[in-house]
Amino acid sequence: MNQVIGASVSRKDGQAKVTGTAIYSAEHQIPDLIYGCLVTATIASGRIRAIDTREAEQASGAIAVFTHRNAPQVFNPNENISRLSESRLPLSDDRVHYAGQIIGLAVADTFERAREAAHLVRVEYEPQAPIVEANKATYVPAPQWLGEDLTYEQIDVNTGNVTTVLASAATQIEAVYTTSMELHAPMEPHAIITHWQSPDMVTIYEPTQAVLMSQRTYADLLGLPTERVRIVSTYIGGAFGCKFLPWPHSILCAAAARELNRPLKVVVSRRQMTANTGHRSETEQTLRLGALADGKLQAIEHTAKSITSPLEDFPEACTIITPAMYAAPNMRLSQELAVMNVGSPTFMRAPGECPGMWALESAMDELAWSLNIDPIQLRLINQTDQHQRKNLPFSAKYFAECLEVGAKQFGWQDRPLQVRSLTRDGKLVGLGMASTTFPGYRGSTSAKVRLLPDGTAHVMSAGNDMGTGAYTVVAMTAAETLGIAVDKIRVELGDSTLPDGGVAGGSQMTASLTPAVKLACEAVLRQAQAQSAQQASEQLKQSGRAAFEATASAAPGEELEKFAFQSWGAHFCELTVDEAIGRVQITRWVSVINAGRILNAKTAASQIRGGVIMGIGTALMEEGHFDPNTGYPVVYDLATYHYPTHADIPRIDVTFIGEPDFNFNPMGVRGIGEIGINGVSAAIANAIYHATGKRIRSLPITPDKIISV
Ligand code: MOS
Repeated sequence: MNQVIGASVSRKDGQAKVTGTAIYSAEHQIPDLIYGCLVTATIASGRIRAIDTREAEQASGAIAVFTHRNAPQVFNPNENISRLSESRLPLSDDRVHYAGQIIGLAVADTFERAREAAHLVRVEYEPQAPIVEANKATYVPAPQWLGEDLTYEQIDVNTGNVTTVLASAATQIEAVYTTSMELHAPMEPHAIITHWQSPDMVTIYEPTQAVLMSQRTYADLLGLPTERVRIVSTYIGGAFGCKFLPWPHSILCAAAARELNRPLKVVVSRRQMTANTGHRSETEQTLRLGALADGKLQAIEHTAKSITSPLEDFPEACTIITPAMYAAPNMRLSQELAVMNVGSPTFMRAPGECPGMWALESAMDELAWSLNIDPIQLRLINQTDQHQRKNLPFSAKYFAECLEVGAKQFGWQDRPLQVRSLTRDGKLVGLGMASTTFPGYRGSTSAKVRLLPDGTAHVMSAGNDMGTGAYTVVAMTAAETLGIAVDKIRVELGDSTLPDGGVAGGSQMTASLTPAVKLACEAVLRQAQAQSAQQASEQLKQSGRAAFEATASAAPGEELEKFAFQSWGAHFCELTVDEAIGRVQITRWVSVINAGRILNAKTAASQIRGGVIMGIGTALMEEGHFDPNTGYPVVYDLATYHYPTHADIPRIDVTFIGEPDFNFNPMGVRGIGEIGINGVSAAIANAIYHATGKRIRSLPITPDKIISV
């Protein structure tokens, strides 16, 4: 039977979410719950000379105030076990490394009283001048990069002789591209409830993209056997990378709850989140491309700079994507990192790749104009069937098909080939395109399937759904394999008591988890020795047996030595520019993607649309800065941090080539969570160039840049 996979199925969790019955981490009702409010530093660098908690402790309803002088016990992390967003443990000393760093936790019997107590903590600082401006920071070669598959990768490449070849190339492009600090800004703030049922057993309700990894980390830090920590992460209201690994507030909450022996909730306020739960660093990239007159690249030099905190080495690995995208006999890629007094940056949707593709795909457009070659043609000439750093062939690529289908749908060939040649309603009109690509990651997972006498089945895994549609594709996989309707499948995810479901990072949940679900379903059918699930359920009914149940695991294997797995696509953008007021409005969008077999046409298209919308934010609006005096982020909520609303977004047409990649896994599926955002800002800047003749190399492209360039 093959009718479920590929269909458009509405989210299984959709109704619960829109009717408010889905319970998010902070919403669990636990008797005797108490509330913590974070106290955060108001200087960006220095130390705490004195901290006076007496008034806070006397406030009505106050239960405790934790500072570095009475920090609750946390064990030093074992670096083979714990994975943290920020290496320094909370409240570990009197040092302040960035504005907004957690320096205390006030606990009370209600949230309002906890907040009041937090405001009553008096702090005297010994401040130092912070470094919060990128042009004053000191850059050094970046360390190895912890990729979204959570292995370390060396990102620098140096082949051939870039300097000589660039100097003698027929055509050369050299340009500097910048991006701004960006926030994840998920709808659901970071929130945690920790409930110690006994001195050696804790349940942690927290949105996390990596359930079992987080379980191991908490166990390590709290000095417990792993199985004495239970993580519950049933629903996540958006994560985008910032909920990958535990942050200091989470660790502090777990440790304080143990000391107080009461269930404790900590919600990070929207304002606090702009400082201490991660962001994407600003970047500065220099691209040098040398090409022959026919467009063939002879040399690529791509250097990138990003900023990290004093507490974590996290480079924004912009150059990681370049050797996958294009080939050139001479290639030099390097990455530099500088420390500033800012919160720790972290993974954010297509970390590295998103700003990397902005620079690379802008530079390719500049090269296409200077050579007078169609930008699609330039990409076809230079794309490669072999990953230039991994030296492995790509599996099921179909990039050329993406370009071809997109160009046709969009009407690319009909565009005028001059800048400033199209107008509509008194505005300039521009068309632009860019490529997109993202690696195919896959991890080890397990799933348990239970078939019941009533003809329904229950699928269980600790893997989670951060809003991407995992509940639905897991149900579809089981429905297809068992041959029963999707609505007869109940899916339980996001609980560490269930089999390890891997991580929802690097767009890998579907490719990792659905193969295990498929195997577990097949094992159930084998166990029943039945032709169909229906027949097996019938057997159960007659025999009085409760269920057929099987657990299966799936993991990547030797295919990783034979292929480079990567998804591909192209974006096409039409926009209008009102030069008088600097306003850019996107009017049409076409994205064509090949990400292997598509399991759920509806939620997959939504993932791409979400990526494009986030990319439009990156291109035109999203921007965080630090106040040069205080070091505080000058954006502090969803009003000061601008991102797109419905009025900013046109219809987004998404087409999948859908060519299965059975080299990658038995489902033939690669990830779709991140590929949508890559290349979006370049497609927009390229269209703005076509509309106006102005090449803008700094994001976001706010009205002032349109007016002044
Ligand atoms: Mo990642 S940025 O959590 O897929």
